[in-house]
Amino acid sequence: MQKRYLNDIMLFERKCGKMFITFEGQEGAGKSTQTKLLYSHFLERGCNVILTREPGGTDIAEKIRHILKDPGSAYMSKKAEALLYIAARAQLADEVILPHLAAGGVVLSDRFTDSTIAYQGFGNGLDLGILISMSNFAGNCLVPDITFYLQVDVKEGLERKLAQGTPDRIEQKDLSYHMRVKKGYEYLLRNFPQRIFAINAELPRDEIHKTIISHIENMKIEGGNTHETYYGHHSRRRRLSNY
Ligand code: TMP
Repeated sequence: MQKRYLNDIMLFERKCGKMFITFEGQEGAGKSTQTKLLYSHFLERGCNVILTREPGGTDIAEKIRHILKDPGSAYMSKKAEALLYIAARAQLADEVILPHLAAGGVVLSDRFTDSTIAYQGFGNGLDLGILISMSNFAGNCLVPDITFYLQVDVKEGLERKLAQGTPDRIEQKDLSYHMRVKKGYEYLLRNFPQRIFAINAELPRDEIHKTIISHIENMKIEGGNTHETYYGHHSRRRRLSNY
């Protein structure tokens, strides 16, 4: 009988223990629907879970989000943009993510450092090495335990987004920018196949959700966030040599 309880506790800890799960994807991929579904899934199981997003998730970071998304900031220097995303990450990490993980909880985040690599690195052509160092500085070298990349046809995703209302500053960028971002995500998928799982975002909502749950249930958790490297070894030279 006691052993049975012990198994239950171990199972609970494995499914509810310290975990950092991120969602990535391009415009119109349906990330926010899936993050909310997963959040409800953890809540229903009594887990100590929080759902956050990047940029945003704290008062200060939400103000930064507003600046970044504002179509009125049409001319924003690429470097200023990168620094704002990273400033928002630092605030969210220090105020929310790191304390919650330290308390043994589950953190779900709609985007994290992979977005900076894809959008500022590949989309805007900024130096990957610098972006990685700054992101590591902002997030205390935190690495997601698992990342779900919702893969959508870039053009269709953008059209879907545009149909929802006035495009934000990023959605307004041209198709070639968004195609470069896609290349960035493909680069990340190739280089971090154990952490990042691509899921076809065109599949039915519930099917995607089930796939996500099964990946989480099958993942190995070894005390959380134990990845030894986070992009650090991917210098710009390495990136260029891949092309
Ligand atoms: P979203 O929350 O609707 O996905 O909007 C966030 C936007 O910000 C999206 O266009 C991706 C972009 N972004 C970056 O360019 N770099 C980053 O580091 C992050 C977190 C987001």
